[in-house]
Amino acid sequence: MTTQPWVAPIGVHTLADRAEVLFHSTFGGAADGVWAAPGRVNLIGEHVDYAGGLVLPFALSYVTTVAVRARDDDQLHCVSTHTDEQWRGNLSEVAPGHPDGWAAYVAGVVWAMRNSGTISAGMGFDLAVHSSVPVGSGLSSSAALECAFALAVADLLGHPTDSDGRLRLIDACIRAENEIAGSPTGGMDQTVAMLAQPGHALLLDCRSADTRPVPVDFESANGRLLIIDTNAPHRLVDGQYGERRAALEVACAELGVETLRDIDDADAVLGSLTAPESVKRVRHVLTEIKRVGEVAELLTLGRVADIGTLLTSSHLSLRDDYEVSSVELDNAVDAALEAGAWGARMTGGGFGGSALALVPDDRVEAVVEHVMHTAAQASLPIPQFLAAEPSRSAHRLSLR
Ligand code: GLA
Repeated sequence: MTTQPWVAPIGVHTLADRAEVLFHSTFGGAADGVWAAPGRVNLIGEHVDYAGGLVLPFALSYVTTVAVRARDDDQLHCVSTHTDEQWRGNLSEVAPGHPDGWAAYVAGVVWAMRNSGTISAGMGFDLAVHSSVPVGSGLSSSAALECAFALAVADLLGHPTDSDGRLRLIDACIRAENEIAGSPTGGMDQTVAMLAQPGHALLLDCRSADTRPVPVDFESANGRLLIIDTNAPHRLVDGQYGERRAALEVACAELGVETLRDIDDADAVLGSLTAPESVKRVRHVLTEIKRVGEVAELLTLGRVADIGTLLTSSHLSLRDDYEVSSVELDNAVDAALEAGAWGARMTGGGFGGSALALVPDDRVEAVVEHVMHTAAQASLPIPQFLAAEPSRSAHRLSLR
């Protein structure tokens, strides 16, 4: 097999240097500063953030860096090392669907901040991006871009970037994604990119917005968390994600609750729903929220290997009840388990993208080989692997 199985994380300063070089060659002169924000992996709590549920993501050491300079003529100009697709335009013309493509995530942040009165009209930005977060792999490259840029804007304007300031930035990033990029996502990704702590996952209660860091120490359990990027592209700006969200809203209306989190007696509720599909969707959400609580508890007790079976149950629920898995994700999960993983599941929005596997150290090589082998045998794209280390949140790297 010729594909290089591991995607190495690149040091953040190396990424920042590349962003600055691109900035200089595109715009001339130096940027005002460089900022970074991480991609994320969700350990458990999938498709429950928009149901007021509990989620348990952590920040990755794969990050997006942005070199930014403020301007005062309402113009936004963005370039990236990853695509020839640049965007230059007037910020006053930003609206749902305009711009489209990756610039929507940047322009949308300014649009949301202007909308909430956080920044005044007329302000503009030049921006150059370089990132090690794989795009289209379900590891939140879009939230990383939004959050790195939002932090840059706040810093350049002298706005607070403490936890309260970050909550406002999270809000702007979510609005950018939902309203300008048109992706009806739930907010988990932006929250973890802004609030993560190294060595910890973030237990986020999406009903109250409370957060609690939960220690995650795979090493002391002689294990590792592997991310398996199936290399099957996933897209959230299509119908499926929105359909799942809408189905939950219909179920909530039928049950007379605001969110599924408000349900105490799961059995009674499932018995009262009329459509078989609603029963499956709601069952996933209710059982998944319960699993998140159990995983957080086990991790707090240092019982890392014991979360494996809950991860696998989460996958089965996403595959059979929520129906957001794919043949590539199922293949990766099944192969990882066959080769000795303690547990495995798809992670993120699904329909392609990435899976994760919690693997004892002495089975890592076997899991990597078996996952690649079974993919090749089934004529699927050959997956790649990323090491998942709970890392830090968005931060400034330099400011002139
Ligand atoms: C995507 C969305 C998140 C969340 C996950 C599924 O990553 O951006 O808000 O809904 O899917 O858990």
